[in-house]
Amino acid sequence: MKSIVILISGRGSNMEAIVDACQREGWPARIAAVISNKADASGLRFAASRGIATAVVDHKAFTTREAFDAELAKVIDGFAPDVVVLAGFMRILTEGFVRQYEGRLLNVHPSLLPAFPGLHTHQRAIEAGCKLAGATVHFVTPELDHGPIVMQAAVPVLPGDTADSLAARVLVQEHRVYPQSVRWLVEGQLSLRDGVVHQLGGQAQVVWGG
Ligand code: GAR
Repeated sequence: MKSIVILISGRGSNMEAIVDACQREGWPARIAAVISNKADASGLRFAASRGIATAVVDHKAFTTREAFDAELAKVIDGFAPDVVVLAGFMRILTEGFVRQYEGRLLNVHPSLLPAFPGLHTHQRAIEAGCKLAGATVHFVTPELDHGPIVMQAAVPVLPGDTADSLAARVLVQEHRVYPQSVRWLVEGQLSLRDGVVHQLGGQAQVVWGG
């Protein structure tokens, strides 16, 4: 049985989708803890209601990124996870932290990476006149919103879309591709060669939504 630790900063809808899929589909894994850098993250209440351990490491209590990441790693390691999942965890992580979890640290980002890393992805996609938008699940590397791509979901950008309407369309797809990607990782169904992720069962690493 593998252990998963999920890091959140807010609402935690991706975390909820992963918790639900893990229970419903009977993954060979358990969610050992949900950890937030914000005490008021609403996702913590959901995790607690499911009997999952929760913890807060408040970044404001630390003067450097290194000090925060060191404490965060200490708390994470207390749960001895096989896989660490960033689910709307809005902190830039130090290279040392990322290297410590290399190959077992996943992130979801609401764009078709490598386009639009960082913030305001949906507004930027609309302003660029993109006809497609989407979400990417990737292994984390020290570069922000960058790393070998596990899965992508594409949705159309529709005339009249606002950042909010596009975000909502993309989020539905995040809730499909993120649980699927985490499941593949805990089941040992992913291999990484030359920076490219392969699904060993030949399953599709792209979904179309919208
Ligand atoms: C999601 O849309 C996720 O892709 C994004 O934050 C949101 C969190 O929502 N993450 C990033 O932008 C990371 N760069 P959630 O808390 O409901 O899962």
